[in-house]
Amino acid sequence: MGYELVAVGVEPPIATITLNRPKVLNALSPDLVREINEALREQEADERIRAVVITGGPKVFAAGADIADMADRTAAEQLQRDQVGRWAGITAFTKPLIAAVNGYALGGGCELALMCDLVIAGDTARFGQPEVNLGIIPGAGGTQRWPRTAGKYAAMEAVLAGTPISARRAHELGLVNKVVPAEMSIAVAQRLARQLAEKPPLAVRLGKESVLKAFETPLAEGLASERKSFYFLFSTEDQKEGMHAFLEKRKGVFKGR
Ligand code: CAA
Repeated sequence: MGYELVAVGVEPPIATITLNRPKVLNALSPDLVREINEALREQEADERIRAVVITGGPKVFAAGADIADMADRTAAEQLQRDQVGRWAGITAFTKPLIAAVNGYALGGGCELALMCDLVIAGDTARFGQPEVNLGIIPGAGGTQRWPRTAGKYAAMEAVLAGTPISARRAHELGLVNKVVPAEMSIAVAQRLARQLAEKPPLAVRLGKESVLKAFETPLAEGLASERKSFYFLFSTEDQKEGMHAFLEKRKGVFKGR
């Protein structure tokens, strides 16, 4: 597929999606979000791909939704075009999605990172929700995913004060998995993606689904759903392979069946 606003590197079993609007710090215009969605749909359908890295490149992740695109919109227009509803393809992705974040991850850029399953931050990363300074609030999940990830008080500070935090502070708050030198973040994320790509894909898929459910359901419902997925995996060839490989003291080879 031809993309203009993202670059897609396919190196099975992983793919890397790089946002590519450097002049506006990867501001997430509707066209850029559409291309991210399309690229993810393509990787979802590609059976060779088992994990995806999303990055803004070495300097900046994304400085938010495109302010020039929104500045003069009316509420009715925003509702009708459902600007942020269109981001839903990102959270619908079923394979592991790893963000490699360098530089600014602000507003929708921070929310994009929060939609990912794992986040590797370069030491230059700055995470924040500065929407309050524009007279709005985060609209792509910031007010919901910050408190679920970093707790109420960090979320309040981010959303009400709009002050960005460093990679190190984000790590202390549990917003990112790891902080590494900026020049290494993409490679570290890709290494992690390759590591996940070696695991049994159905177990990875249901593991991801099950962890995400923890943010959306009461405990009893989440536990019931987890148990169903756990039992279901006993119907897969990969479970037989995984357990027999363990007993035979060899490395399992998984097929996603
Ligand atoms: N939308 C549109 N354009 C943007 C942008 C954005 N979110 N962020 C940066 N740009 C553009 C700038 O307008 C500038 O363009 P020109 O060269 O044509 O003037 C270019 O990118 C470079 O930016 P700066 O000159 O401002 O760079 P800087 O290094 O001085 O500052 C920054 C960097 C602190 C990130 C600053 O650009 C900034 O504050 N950006 C806006 C951040 C923001 O408010 N994000 C939230 C957006 S709303 C949102 O995301 C809603 C939601 O929840 C979905």
